[in-house]
Amino acid sequence: AQGGPLAGKHVLVTSGPTHEPIDPVRYIANRSSGKQGHAIARAAAALGADVTLVTGPVALADPAGINVVHIETAQEMAQAVANALPADVAIFAAAVADWRTTAQKQAKIKKSAGGKPQLELTENPDILAGVGNRTEGRPTLVIGFAAETENVVAEATRKRQTKGADWIVANDVSPARGVFGGDGNTVHLVTAHGVEDWPTLSKDEVAARLMAHIADHFNSKASV
Ligand code: C5P
Repeated sequence: AQGGPLAGKHVLVTSGPTHEPIDPVRYIANRSSGKQGHAIARAAAALGADVTLVTGPVALADPAGINVVHIETAQEMAQAVANALPADVAIFAAAVADWRTTAQKQAKIKKSAGGKPQLELTENPDILAGVGNRTEGRPTLVIGFAAETENVVAEATRKRQTKGADWIVANDVSPARGVFGGDGNTVHLVTAHGVEDWPTLSKDEVAARLMAHIADHFNSKASV
């Protein structure tokens, strides 16, 4: 039996990019190393939670003691998240590709001299919004990320509402911040009560601080 402030809690985390195949050798993806999501999964396990990590393709090892589900596409991620529920906490740190091609080619698309290649795209499901706006089986805490370069807090506040999230971790991904692939992160925690500006921290520190907030949330609920 494991102790810790999140013992007995199931924490679901999405991490990494999704890859949307164009043909057998090419894909569409957003930038994401998975470092922040994986750090969150490790921090949850360190507090005693049962953790499910649904991850796209990343260059990181599977964290020890965590149930890791590997997927490639957004549709597979949505299915893996649905399969992993119920959860007490769901944290959506994945950089899900916004679009996928309507028809994946079974053979490699050939370069044609002078031709303009055409791709027909369709929007992927919003996995966070699907869980956040659930009326049944919604996790107690639904937490999203918002990677922004401008109006960071305003955008995060809007996403908190439209996606049905309790909290949004807004991260400033302006190129000067070096967030993508780097080890540091400058975030703002947007909740129903307002905005907390956090100093620039390592991704491990952001994860630990977020997890401490989550533990506090459950403790203060338990005491009232
Ligand atoms: O709208 P945007 O992509 O900026 O929202 C980011 C948040 O929504 C992140 O928490 C991300 O993991 C989640 N998301 C998702 N499914 C999508 C797009 C975004 O879960 N298709």
